[in-house]
Amino acid sequence: MTDHLGDWGRPHGTVPPRAALHTDAPVIDLSGAWRFRLSPTAAAAEFWDPAYDDSGWDVLPVPSSWPMHGYGRPAYTNITYPFPLDPPFVPTENPTGDHRRTVAVPADWAGQRVLLRFEGVDSLGRVWVNGVEVGSTQGSRLTHEFDVTAHLRPGADNVIAVRVHQWSAGSYLEDQDMWWLPGIFRAVTLEVRPAGGLDDVFVHAGFAEGRGTLRVDAPDGALLSVPALGLHDVAVNTAHAVEVAAWTPETPTLYDARVSTPTETVTLRIGFRTVAVVDGLLTANGQRIFFRGVNRHEFHPDLGRVVPLDVVRAELELMKAHHVNAIRTSHYPPHAALLDLCDELGFWVIVENDYETHGFEQNGWRDNPTDDPRWTDALVDRMRRTVSRDKNHACVVMWSLGNEAGVGRNLASMAAVARSIDPDRPLHYEGDRSSAHTDVYSRMYASPAEVAEIGAAPDGLPFVLCEYAHAMGNGPGLLTDYRELFERYPRCQGGFIWEWLDHGIRVGDHFAYGGDFGEPVHDGNFVIDGLVFPDRTPSPGLTELGAVFAPVRLEPEGENLTIRNAYDHRDLSDVVLDWVVTVDGEPVATGTEPAPALAPGESARLSVPSGAVAPPSDNEAWLTMTARLLGGRQVGAGQLLLHEAAPRPRGTRRRISGDTLGVARFGADGRLVAIGDMPVSGPRLDVWRAPIDNDEFGDDPLARRWRAAGLHRMTHRVVEVAGTLGGWTVQTRVAAAGVDRALLATYRWSAEDDTVTLRLDVEPTGDWDVPLPRAGVSMAVPGRLGAVTWFGGGPGEAYVDSHSAALVGRYESTVDAMQTPYVRPQENGNRTKVRWARLTDTAGAGLEILGHPTFELTARRWSTAALTAARHTDDLVPGRDIHLHLDHAHQGLGTAACGPPAAPEAWLPAEPFELEVTFRAV
Ligand code: GAL
Repeated sequence: MTDHLGDWGRPHGTVPPRAALHTDAPVIDLSGAWRFRLSPTAAAAEFWDPAYDDSGWDVLPVPSSWPMHGYGRPAYTNITYPFPLDPPFVPTENPTGDHRRTVAVPADWAGQRVLLRFEGVDSLGRVWVNGVEVGSTQGSRLTHEFDVTAHLRPGADNVIAVRVHQWSAGSYLEDQDMWWLPGIFRAVTLEVRPAGGLDDVFVHAGFAEGRGTLRVDAPDGALLSVPALGLHDVAVNTAHAVEVAAWTPETPTLYDARVSTPTETVTLRIGFRTVAVVDGLLTANGQRIFFRGVNRHEFHPDLGRVVPLDVVRAELELMKAHHVNAIRTSHYPPHAALLDLCDELGFWVIVENDYETHGFEQNGWRDNPTDDPRWTDALVDRMRRTVSRDKNHACVVMWSLGNEAGVGRNLASMAAVARSIDPDRPLHYEGDRSSAHTDVYSRMYASPAEVAEIGAAPDGLPFVLCEYAHAMGNGPGLLTDYRELFERYPRCQGGFIWEWLDHGIRVGDHFAYGGDFGEPVHDGNFVIDGLVFPDRTPSPGLTELGAVFAPVRLEPEGENLTIRNAYDHRDLSDVVLDWVVTVDGEPVATGTEPAPALAPGESARLSVPSGAVAPPSDNEAWLTMTARLLGGRQVGAGQLLLHEAAPRPRGTRRRISGDTLGVARFGADGRLVAIGDMPVSGPRLDVWRAPIDNDEFGDDPLARRWRAAGLHRMTHRVVEVAGTLGGWTVQTRVAAAGVDRALLATYRWSAEDDTVTLRLDVEPTGDWDVPLPRAGVSMAVPGRLGAVTWFGGGPGEAYVDSHSAALVGRYESTVDAMQTPYVRPQENGNRTKVRWARLTDTAGAGLEILGHPTFELTARRWSTAALTAARHTDDLVPGRDIHLHLDHAHQGLGTAACGPPAAPEAWLPAEPFELEVTFRAV
């Protein structure tokens, strides 16, 4: 046993890497039940002898991440290595999983060359066939093949034994921000390589000036057929001019092809496109590429690094439905099948090498493998495997050298090998600001201001934000700001949201994150930063993204809506517009009409459809238009205000009598205690929100400043309660212990008919150097009022810098359904610009709230204090009451957990504000 594992990260005994191919050569899938034994160190007893008795071992499925099956525990770190920085050594405590199975190899495989193929082993797998060690894998997300011809016994049972070490020298190269999850987590197969077959095939399918060219590199003598192009058994290794439709994410036309020799046939799906940097722009087929992308990790809340293919297809379809057109495979090559699906469904893909050494930064980048020649072979090997496997995909537009691995000589080596294999695709790497080895300038989390500066610079490389809009918890804000920059500056070619998925691990009724498994070093919920929850249900951030990148833009302009085709490659001839006129949220007229057949980038003013007229009414009337593909999904929506609501008529003023004012009853401290028969408590000034991740993290986190200012522990002093004929006036001073700054809140109550109205005026005094989390009132109402109807923004939650998906309408929901189950509980569920809301019980009785003109509405079955204290969703326990927040405004969301805070106009400075709402029992 060596005292370090993995020889500076190099695999051993493998055959040269080659393309992932769909072949008719015989294959045996070794997925299924394997015998398994976990040992706490690398020094477990020998087990590879075919005669070894493993009947006492457990049974584990392969592929699998073994901690997800109860062996050891998952561990999460973002940057910090979970072992000492002592390259290339790893701890003696090195969880080691021994895997064994037998496989019957058909007798007719005798005399044929056979490869044993591993598509993903985390982190190092030593492999024995019938007791003979054939080599070792390193590069967890890379494919390794061994020639096992000499060791297999066709016509008999064969024993395959694999010893997987969680830690190896290669672990130093795999410091990606994700769970550490050892195991054989992708397919293992035995594959015949027929003599005179097709070990490797390389498709070059370009498109320029309206025509395609096709050259397939394959062994001489192989024949190529693409029936739809009239190519039948034509020569390989020579260029063919073809009449084709270009491949783009919006028009992912693929041509079925076949390459064959007398002994083997492989099938391919070919898309034609040419990617090139032209005049400072990254182009496909001569047109500027615009990445509306996401970063995608491979993770499943129950299975770890194993993601079933139906789940992958469904998640890609969910991306398409939200107008995502690009994927960066952060930070390693994905399962090979992902790229087949991306070809088919249409995504630009940046395939990233399995490489990150971010934790060396904490040591001043000392000993960073990127600049150490002892690691060169391993890094070149990784890059070679990456490019070789995935080179045949139309969707792949760039190779990425890795992520967050600093700078150094090995960047040049990796770039050189990528270019030598595939000179046709540009290179990406973010970690080197000089872009010395890349074809694009890439950055992460640059603020809108900096992106604008880059966009306006006179020249330079194409600019890509490989990560932006950190989607951790509630957020991200700022998406429209970034979109405008990508549309204004040609050089700013879009970017990739960080990230697609929350990597929560399902434990009982909640999803766990870093620290939940007793890890001594961890990064908490930084692994929960996706647009979809761990079970891949959309979070509001995805809904917002879908609205921001909707390809059909419908926006009010004066008396009309304008329509803009924001597709890059298709016109709107297959788009129809459904419209509805609503009054006070109730539909009064509907219709459908074709969209004008605008070319990409074109706009037109739409005339209001005949029939889209609102009858005279005192209520607000809207025209809502929804664009959808004929027979398909929604591709845009917009609204036009047809007329505003008339001022509400005044009723008969009610007077104070004892502790009542009309239908309202007040307590001695001037607080509302009942409306009619319904007990209520409050409303009281409330400025606290359960900090969102964008408040808690980043440089100078707002939540720290808020807590220091005591905004979560404000006390209320009643200064004066004064009754006049017209109502009550209650003056209070709201402040935190230990400070002299305060908010002076004046509540003016008046009543008409069966309503009671609160007008709240708030004025800060003293030195306020922090913005407010929120500005409004909170109150408690009986828990039975669980049904909610409102007229305002909806249907989902929305905040001042994330409301593109909220349309004005009448919505029905429940308090329970209005909660967003952020994995780490935090402020959520706000409904924006609410004109009126009704909370009712099952009999339809309850409370109506009217805004003057609008308010922000949050309703939940626990207090904001309980929400603040909760660590997981099942810490939130419904109480007796419903807690209502009626707000004038909230602090914006921004994306400060990693990146810029909310834009200045979305801040909520401590300044005088007012809020007016009317209550009525219904
Ligand atoms: C980036 C990194 C990602 C992720 C993100 C924070 O620096 O590339 O992998 O860690 O920050 O969530």
